[in-house]
Amino acid sequence: MSTSFSVDARTRAALFTEARSNTRFADREVPLEVIHDVWDMIKWGPTGNNTVPMRLAVARTPEARAATIAAALEGNRHKLEQAPLLMVAARDDRFHDTFEVTGGGSASTYERLETEPERRERMAHTGTLLQAGYLIIGLRAAGLAVRPYGGFDKAAMDEALLSGTSWRSEVLFGVGWPAEGDHGAGERRGRIAAEAAVMAL
Ligand SMILES: Cc1cc2nc3c(=O)[nH]c(=O)nc-3n(C[C@H](O)[C@H](O)[C@H](O)COP(=O)(O)O)c2cc1C
Repeated sequence: MSTSFSVDARTRAALFTEARSNTRFADREVPLEVIHDVWDMIKWGPTGNNTVPMRLAVARTPEARAATIAAALEGNRHKLEQAPLLMVAARDDRFHDTFEVTGGGSASTYERLETEPERRERMAHTGTLLQAGYLIIGLRAAGLAVRPYGGFDKAAMDEALLSGTSWRSEVLFGVGWPAEGDHGAGERRGRIAAEAAVMAL
């Protein structure tokens, strides 16, 4: 039996099977408005207790862009330079300040989160990584290509871009419109098949 997916093969290819982690992009700007539109779609992805801990710091100015690249590991810098838009997905360690919106305004839950900063940070970290996954798929759905980067100095990034805020960097993204021809991601490496990854009990 073949599965009848609710989205067509072209969409599945654009989101998963053909999409790559590009390092090469078209020479075309990514308007901030597109990032807003992607956010307003991916914010609906489910999270623990409906928290929304991810924030996006978009390096728009040449100064912010240079600081972002400088905080990256040496081996990532050249790849990042090629991306028209650089963006840091950060966790907001004070995500519970928006609890009126996301938490149904439960005063007792807010109070518990306020008094347990370590638990809050763990929740923010986990939720941000989950939302970062939604973000990758959302950017692809907007026709963009994206390469995520974990290889950067988080303390240096926070100091350069996020100082004075409750945001802490988690994942860096190089984003752009796909170029004709080479995506720059090289040979695609393998994935684990369902037979090995799914256990029926
Ligand atoms: C959390 C995360 C961290 C990553 N860190 C780096 C990195 O520091 N440098 C890099 O070149 N690629 C990095 N990547 C890109 C992965 O190597 C790439 O997405 C993966 O190999 C799949 O490639 P494909 O989408 O082209 O198949 C990272 C990806 C993720 C999701």
